Amino acid sequence: MIKYVKEATDFLLSRIASHLEIGVITGTGLGGLTDRMERGIQIPYEDIPHFPISTIEGHRGTLVSGTLAGRFVLAMEGRFHLYEGYSLQEVTIPIRIMSKLGIKYLFISSAAGGLNFHFNQGDLMIVTDHMNFTGSNPLIGPNIDEFGPRFPDMSKIYDSALIKLAKQQSLKLGIDLKQGVYAGVMGPSLETPAETRFLRMIGADAVGMSTVPEVIVGAHCGLRIAVIVVITNINMPDCMKETSIEEVISTANSASPVLADLWENIINALPE
Ligand code: HPA
Repeated sequence: MIKYVKEATDFLLSRIASHLEIGVITGTGLGGLTDRMERGIQIPYEDIPHFPISTIEGHRGTLVSGTLAGRFVLAMEGRFHLYEGYSLQEVTIPIRIMSKLGIKYLFISSAAGGLNFHFNQGDLMIVTDHMNFTGSNPLIGPNIDEFGPRFPDMSKIYDSALIKLAKQQSLKLGIDLKQGVYAGVMGPSLETPAETRFLRMIGADAVGMSTVPEVIVGAHCGLRIAVIVVITNINMPDCMKETSIEEVISTANSASPVLADLWENIINALPE
């Protein structure tokens, strides 16, 4: 792992700006934020040593460096999921690489199903905590001490100052930003009504097939993390509707400009 991260980092360091501060991951249908960047270099994932390749619809598969609101950003347009057949180590290697490249903040967006009764399709939710239901953990195996400790604390992964900033900026923009707990599952099958009822009962507000492995590795590396998800569909166990990938992508696409506004404002308001 150390060798792979080093080779990828050396490859990227020779091509992109130093002083990177912010790592961004855009998920399904949510590439709008990177369209706002003053783009420097963009590199297809397949050119980066040891980088996995996105295999699914709605994900671009490019690493973009540039600036946004005057800050140096490295953005992944498209991410990797367990359900594509990647291991947790593969899904999360980009986070370790970004951390070695010097980013301090990790900003993640993804699509999620809404479980909270007060949520509507298209809502944005800032994640305040998560539950790992992937059945595994990306930190299994020998600990790499140069990244972080064997038993990393997970009591405050979602940075409270960033949550506050997101709430302030959403108020300014007139966005009704929801907040809640994200349950990360493996997928690719969606939840049954019984699973949906269970997730609601135990306190999850949204459910999705990404984010949690990336956040665990980001927290292990000591990054300051904020996650905003788009509620692309509402899951009600007693009148479960079918969810299709078309619906998820189209809701994500519609929410993408508002989400991009919010991230841009957050980045603009970050302390120097
Ligand atoms: N369940 C899991 N993942 C998802 C969903 C969902 O309902 N919607 C978007 N990603």
